[in-house]
Amino acid sequence: MIQTLEWTDSGVRFIDQTKLPTEETYVTCKTYEQVADAIRTMIVRGAPAIGVAAAMGIALGVKDSKAESVAELKKELDHICDVIGKTRPTAVNLFWAIERMQRKFEHLRVRPIAQIKQEIVEEAKHMHAEDIAANQAMGRHGATLLPREGGVLTHCNAGALATAGYGTALGVIRAAVEQGKKIHVYADETRPFLQGSRLTAWELMKDGIPTTVISDNMAGAMMRQGKIGAIVVGADRIAANGDVANKIGTYSVAVLAKENGIPFYVAAPLSTVDLNCPDGSKIPIEQRNPKEVTHIAGKQMVPDGVLIENPAFDVTPAKYVAAIITERGIAREPYAASLRALAGVESEVRA
Ligand code: MRU
Repeated sequence: MIQTLEWTDSGVRFIDQTKLPTEETYVTCKTYEQVADAIRTMIVRGAPAIGVAAAMGIALGVKDSKAESVAELKKELDHICDVIGKTRPTAVNLFWAIERMQRKFEHLRVRPIAQIKQEIVEEAKHMHAEDIAANQAMGRHGATLLPREGGVLTHCNAGALATAGYGTALGVIRAAVEQGKKIHVYADETRPFLQGSRLTAWELMKDGIPTTVISDNMAGAMMRQGKIGAIVVGADRIAANGDVANKIGTYSVAVLAKENGIPFYVAAPLSTVDLNCPDGSKIPIEQRNPKEVTHIAGKQMVPDGVLIENPAFDVTPAKYVAAIITERGIAREPYAASLRALAGVESEVRA
C-alpha cells in the first residue's frame, strides 16, 4: 500500500510527490514549518492529503511546544495554524483540518498540558484513519455508477497520493475493479504540474489497473470516439450549490462530457464540501509560479518576457455534475439540498 503520509516518532513522513514517478523517496518533516513547506512546495498535495498533513503539522508543533501554561500553548497553536493556513488557499480541507484541531484544543483546555499534547497527536492520527475509511466508503457508493466495462477518464490525481490512502476518484475506480468491472483508465496528463501522467499513472500501474495517459487536449477526441463511458474526478472545494473547484482543466472536461452525453462524476469527502461558500464564484483560486508553465523539466518552452497565467484550479458549475459521491452516499441535483442533507449530521469533534 502506498504510504502518502504517516505519523512517525521522528516526525511526519511524506512520499516526495515532486520526485515521482522516477524516484520513490521519502521526506521526514521534523517541525511544523517543514510540514508547511512540504504543503506549499507540493511534496504533499491533493485536498484530503493536505488536510491530514495540516493536522499532523499542527500536532507536531503542539507536541514540541515548550509552553508552560495552556494559555501560552493556545497562543502557539494559533501561530502554527496561521502559518499552515497560509500555504495553499483553495483546498478547503486545509481549513477544515485547522478548525477541527482548534475545536479539539478547546475541548481539552481544562486538561494538563501533557495530556493535551497527547490527545492532539491522537486526533491527527484519527483524521488519517478516517480519511482512508471515507475513501473506501466513497468507493463502495461510487463503483455502482461506473460501467461494467470500458473507458473511464480522470483528470489530475485524486488517488492514494492525494489522500491518506485509496483515493477519492481513483478509490471509486479501484472499488469498481475490485467488484470485477473491466475498467480502462484514461488519465489526463494534467498540465502544467503533470499530476495525471506522473502520479495517477504511477499508482494505477502499481495496482495493475490498465491505464492510458493522454495529453489534456486529447480528451475531447477520445470522448467523441466513444472510448470514454464515464468521467470521475476529485475536488478541492465544493460550494453549497454544488459548484466544484478542482484542478485546472476540469471545467473543459465537464463541458466536453455534457456535449458527448457522458456522465461526469465528482468524488470527494464531506470535508471538501464548504457549506459556508454559496457558489463557485466565491472559491479562492490559487495562482502558482509562472515557471510551472514556462518550463518543462527545467527547459524553457516559451519566449522570454511573454505573459503567463497559471491558475491551479477552475470551477465547474453544478449543472455539469451528474452526481457527487461522498462517504455518506451520493448527492444529486439540487445540490443545495442533497449536500446539506448528507453533511447535516456532520459528527461533532470526538470527546
Ligand atoms: O494542486 P494539487 O495537486 O493539490 O491539486 C489536486 C487536485 O486538484 C485534486 O483533484 C483534488 O485535490 C482532489 S484529491 C482527492
